[in-house]
Amino acid sequence: MYHKYDANYTMIITNSTEHMRELAAIAGKHKTLGFVPTMGALHQGHLSLVKTSMEQCDFTIVSIFVNPTQFNDPEDFKKYPRTRTADINLLHDAGANMLFIPSEKEIYPIPDTRVFDFGNMDKVMEGRCRPGHFNGVAQVVTRLFNIINPTVAFFGEKDFQQFAIIKQLVTQMELSMQLVSCPTVREYDGLAMSSRNSLLNDKQRALVPLIARTLFEAKDRVKYTDVSFLKTWVYNTIDANPELDIEYAEIVNASTLQPIDAWGDAEHVQLCVAVRVNTIRLIDNIRLK
Ligand code: PAF
Repeated sequence: MYHKYDANYTMIITNSTEHMRELAAIAGKHKTLGFVPTMGALHQGHLSLVKTSMEQCDFTIVSIFVNPTQFNDPEDFKKYPRTRTADINLLHDAGANMLFIPSEKEIYPIPDTRVFDFGNMDKVMEGRCRPGHFNGVAQVVTRLFNIINPTVAFFGEKDFQQFAIIKQLVTQMELSMQLVSCPTVREYDGLAMSSRNSLLNDKQRALVPLIARTLFEAKDRVKYTDVSFLKTWVYNTIDANPELDIEYAEIVNASTLQPIDAWGDAEHVQLCVAVRVNTIRLIDNIRLK
């Protein structure tokens, strides 16, 4: 297994599930396998996951697959950014050991009809606004975990609800892997990095830092504001901009993802928001307590 600074470093790329399974099994015999699942259109947020995986594991595998089953809106799936060549170059420069870029047929040789039960965790926030989204995420993630059998899988904290649900999935399925959530990487003006940011035009890009600014200010207001007032303040502050259409602002217990009424209701409290800028949907979150 070569490191990126070794003269013989090369990143193995495969489209085949069988090949991926075989190589991961060989590498996993003597090495810890770090896995970073992505949908491509890579940015510094993804690269920070790759870097963390390389620090914590012997062999880092990245997947790129725009998973159709997690898109409830076919238009959203169609316009999701796809930047394959740039992605491959970035991962090679980052020093990833292996890249898995399967086709839809490789991941779903037969349609996946599995239905997962996450109780109330997927009935709120993203789950409420994007019906079926987390079922699709669970389908693809279990499939990828089954092929790669990683020691540790790395996810971004920007998708806060997704990480909580995948944690629940791993517990339900009694998988022995570890999960690591890595901090959100932000642009110079606070905007959370997201593949969807590339879809914003200049005017929209100038407006969206308001989302992160509102979250940071909300954190400062915790000491002198009650939960319901703060939630309304966040909602109204973002919604006051006619170009930004807020879908939700929720203050939740980080373990159950259920809304809280008072600061004492949970030890770890997270503020999560989703905002539409025309047809582009952005999410962000911050720990309040
Ligand atoms: O977070 C993402 O990019 C996707 O939801 C994931 C985990 C790669 C599954 O398609």
